[in-house]
Amino acid sequence: MNIRRERPEDYEAVRIVTKAAFRNVEHSSQTEAEIVDALREASVLTISLVAEELNSSGEKEIIGHIAFSPVAFTGAEDVATGWFGLGPVSVLPEKQKQGIGSALVHEGLTLLKVADAKGCVLLGDPEYYKRFGFRNDPKMRLRDVPQEYFLTLAFDKEELPDADVIYHPAFASS
Ligand SMILES: CC(C)(COP(=O)(O)OP(=O)(O)OC[C@H]1O[C@@H](n2cnc3c(N)ncnc32)[C@H](O)[C@@H]1OP(=O)(O)O)[C@@H](O)C(=O)NCCC(=O)NCCS
Repeated sequence: MNIRRERPEDYEAVRIVTKAAFRNVEHSSQTEAEIVDALREASVLTISLVAEELNSSGEKEIIGHIAFSPVAFTGAEDVATGWFGLGPVSVLPEKQKQGIGSALVHEGLTLLKVADAKGCVLLGDPEYYKRFGFRNDPKMRLRDVPQEYFLTLAFDKEELPDADVIYHPAFASS
């Protein structure tokens, strides 16, 4: 399995993987593939990684994907925060629980740190994401979601900003 940045010829495979991964997810909007497209269209798909492996015919196949995009803070919408939102992250159902999702998260976080990002936020299951260091902290909030599912990871030792986080409008895609 190899992880690399997406290329234009991967866009359709990314769509297919994302749709397949979220098809049976209870809290899914079923718009995750469109969100990735809209982030790319808006040029805010800061990091977009694919996981690929050789299939039984010896051809490379995309089996996972992860996206990172910049987030803003309420009251300073036009100011770059240095914080990024993780997601969507997708692994083909038949390839899940083999460490591919974790590898995508680790590689994405490494690239964010190399790019001098301050930290990362996400909406997700605390049980899964705590293994990467994500924690819930009331200092960083996302409106209209249960606070315990909004998770943060600061890359340096500074205090977390006290902020209402805003994802890019592409997340409203449907
Ligand atoms: C979430 C997802 C990307 C993880 O990918 P993966 O390749 O299966 O993950 P890994 O193999 O690295 O990790 C598997 C571990 O995570 C756990 N896990 C996977 N998804 C989980 C979830 N939603 N909640 C809690 N635990 C989860 C598994 O039980 C397993 O635990 P273990 O290591 O203790 O056995 C994948 O399951 C997926 O595509 N899910 C559907 C889409 C989705 O829900 N994306 C996340 C929301 S943005």
